[in-house]
Amino acid sequence: MIHNAGARHLYVHLPFCVHRCGYCDFVTVVGREAQHGAYVDALLSELARESGSLAGAVDTVFIGGGTPTFTDPDALRRVLAALPSAAEVTVEANPETVTEELAVLLREGGVNRISLGAQTFAPRLLDVLERVAGPDDVRRAVHTLRDAFFDNISLDLIYGIPGQEPSDLDTDLAEALALAPEHLSLYELEAKPGTRFTHAWGDELVRQSEAMEGYFERVVETLTDAGYRWYETANFCLSGDQAAGRDLRAHHNLGYWQGRDYLGVGIGAVSTLGEQRRRNGASIGRYINALGGSAGGKEPPRELEQLDPLTKAQERLMLGLRLDEPLALGGLEHAIDRGGLERMVAGGLAVVHTECDAGDEQSLSLTNRGRFLGGGVTAELLA
Ligand SMILES: C[S@@+](CC[C@H](N)C(=O)[O-])C[C@H]1O[C@@H](n2cnc3c(N)ncnc32)[C@H](O)[C@@H]1O
Ligand code: SF4
Repeated sequence: MIHNAGARHLYVHLPFCVHRCGYCDFVTVVGREAQHGAYVDALLSELARESGSLAGAVDTVFIGGGTPTFTDPDALRRVLAALPSAAEVTVEANPETVTEELAVLLREGGVNRISLGAQTFAPRLLDVLERVAGPDDVRRAVHTLRDAFFDNISLDLIYGIPGQEPSDLDTDLAEALALAPEHLSLYELEAKPGTRFTHAWGDELVRQSEAMEGYFERVVETLTDAGYRWYETANFCLSGDQAAGRDLRAHHNLGYWQGRDYLGVGIGAVSTLGEQRRRNGASIGRYINALGGSAGGKEPPRELEQLDPLTKAQERLMLGLRLDEPLALGGLEHAIDRGGLERMVAGGLAVVHTECDAGDEQSLSLTNRGRFLGGGVTAELLA
């Protein structure tokens, strides 16, 4: 059953990349410039087909990839023109693709937030990640975006890169802070077993995974000391005076962490609509054939999953506890292991709050120590 009110969050997948970085596990397609237009035709056809799943007013749009900013400019312009208006419209950008022309195209297309993939500022670590952009490209991209009046820029950084030392992470954080981004995402490097990247860096990846906890604490301490709010496990935004009254959290992702419905269009895109989750297939050829080919307008290949109430409640707990605000427990009781909860509270990892004003409604949050341990604590709490 599809939620009546409709989704207020829209994800749009633009999969094209100039090359494939060794560590990347996203649904991407290298090059294929000749296919950008046909893919966008199919994407817009899917968006038109599915628009009934969207609410009358959409809060956020997120255009992710792949490298959305590598998409042919005319095709990208067509995507932006077809989007519903929303308070937050984010585009993921790779630094080397950011030019004055691109910044103007994005601004004129209604984009008001940019998520820039810096990853690291150390040239030798960028080589390990097989990135195209160097540190100067990241700085230049931020300045170009500022000149085009973008006032909500997020930087992605990765830590735990083969060959990285704690001092490299300190330098990366200092370099990122010098650019004064409104938002920062700090990801632990995930290396999928069996990939070329994992074969190439096996032992070093083991050494890095042992250092991960220390890196994480360093990240949180440095960024909170610099005035950023640690509002989600891997995400930080300016707050207080530095935010000048703006709530700079990533509202699109916040919708996901808060368990709201979202519609995803494009290859590999995921949607959660009421009790149904669906995942589009990853094949660009089949996607274009279904939606844009001569037979046009058919549903693209996708997998459907019915979400039972327990699964929904467990997901709500796992995602909600990543945030720094207490999670209301009403309706989630059946997903919680009471013994596990008591152990976590006694161990100083979780806190139960009781709001007397709200009819004894209980809510749950993790302490900072609990947030550092993250998934391990949540696993103990689940029934
Ligand atoms: C959709 S991805 C890529 C966006 C953009 N094409 C880029 O490369 O910057 C969004 C972010 O996920 C993070 N990411 C991608 N693969 C990762 C991995 N294997 N481990 C940790 N973070 C990863 C990167 O920080 C990246 O900027
Ligand atoms: S540019 Fe981004 S999406 Fe493309 S392969 Fe590299 S990490 Fe993946």
